[in-house]
Amino acid sequence: MSRLSVAIDGPAGAGKSTVARQVAKRLGLTYVDTGAMYRAITWKALQNRIDLAEEGSLAQLVRETRIRLKTGRRGMEVWVDGMLVSEAIRAPAVTSNVSAVAGQPEVRRVLVEKQQELAREGGVVMDGRDIGTRVLPEAEIKVFLTASIEERARRRYHEWVRRGYSIDMEDLKKEISMRDEKDKNREHSPLRPAEDAVHLDTTGLSVEEVVSSILELCRTKVGGGK
Ligand code: CDP
Ligand code: CDP
Repeated sequence: MSRLSVAIDGPAGAGKSTVARQVAKRLGLTYVDTGAMYRAITWKALQNRIDLAEEGSLAQLVRETRIRLKTGRRGMEVWVDGMLVSEAIRAPAVTSNVSAVAGQPEVRRVLVEKQQELAREGGVVMDGRDIGTRVLPEAEIKVFLTASIEERARRRYHEWVRRGYSIDMEDLKKEISMRDEKDKNREHSPLRPAEDAVHLDTTGLSVEEVVSSILELCRTKVGGGK
């Protein structure tokens, strides 16, 4: 399955990155986290105190920025202009502003081009919001992952607690719902399933169960495999 392209889309907290990373590992494919790219641009824009509503400045910033995704010793590393920002791009300020940045057409144009370049020869598992519809419309496997808002908020809550933070569950639910609404209702490449995507509701399922379903899908669609 070395040339296979797998597109995984869905709302925040559905388990896309966790599952996509595992599927890639098991199939020997490259994992590409496109959300990390939008977060990287948002992080840099905040660092440079750019007015996020100012389309021209953001457009210039995205054209000038070098983003690299690398598999390092401690998982996937995100580098912006030679700086390691894997942790910084998960900060609450980035999370609350990323949808606004991702709504800008020039930001999307530049990042989609980069994502398509990374997948040019196949062999990728890519997760995001518009992978099946816009970035890789020809992907052999398309999955749209969902889970109830309660479950998605619970997953995020446990993640924050594991990292030593205390956070209010209701605030978390609001933040996730607001981001989903912005992502679904934006003009350019909104969050929606591709017509030929397989829908998978992961509420109540373990990571391993979801990974197994996707691997099974890869086997039945393509045949053979590990
Ligand atoms: O991991 P989480 O669900 O919190 O979000 P993410 O995958 O890191 O994506 C962060 C944000 O980037 C999303 O809320 C979208 O606004 C944007 N995004 C996008 O517009 N298109 C993509 N292909 C991936 C992310
Ligand atoms: O990328 P996305 O925002 O869709 O989700 P994520 O960043 O992968 O976070 C999902 C969290 O829920 C992780 O802490 C996973 O361990 C957990 N989880 C999951 O991803 N899938 C399940 N079926 C159950 C739990």
